[in-house]
Amino acid sequence: MPERRLFVCTNQKSGIGEAVAKALKKELKAQGVKTMLADGRKLHTRIQTCSCLDRCEHCKKGPGAALVVYPDEIYYNDVQPKDAACVVASLAASAKK
Ligand code: FES
Repeated sequence: MPERRLFVCTNQKSGIGEAVAKALKKELKAQGVKTMLADGRKLHTRIQTCSCLDRCEHCKKGPGAALVVYPDEIYYNDVQPKDAACVVASLAASAKK
C-alpha cells in the first residue's frame, strides 16, 4: 500500500514538535483519513518525528515546528498543535485529486 509520511522536526527545546506530531496523529484518526483513497488506491499516512529539516527560521527560532510531507515534498513552517486539523484536512483534500 502506498504511504505518505509526515516528518515533524523535534529539534526544539520547547517540545512543540512532539506536541505537533501527537496532534497530527490524533487528527488523522478524528478525521478518519489515516488510510484514504487517492487515484483509486488506498494511501496510508504515517506521522514520524525527525531531527532538523533545515527550516530552523520557521521551527527552532519560531513559534512552532517545521514538517515535510513525502513523497509530495510539501513543507509547513511554524506549525503548532492547533494547526493539525487544517494540515490534515489539506492532505485529505489533495489526496482526492
Ligand atoms: S530545528 Fe527544526 S528545522 Fe531546524
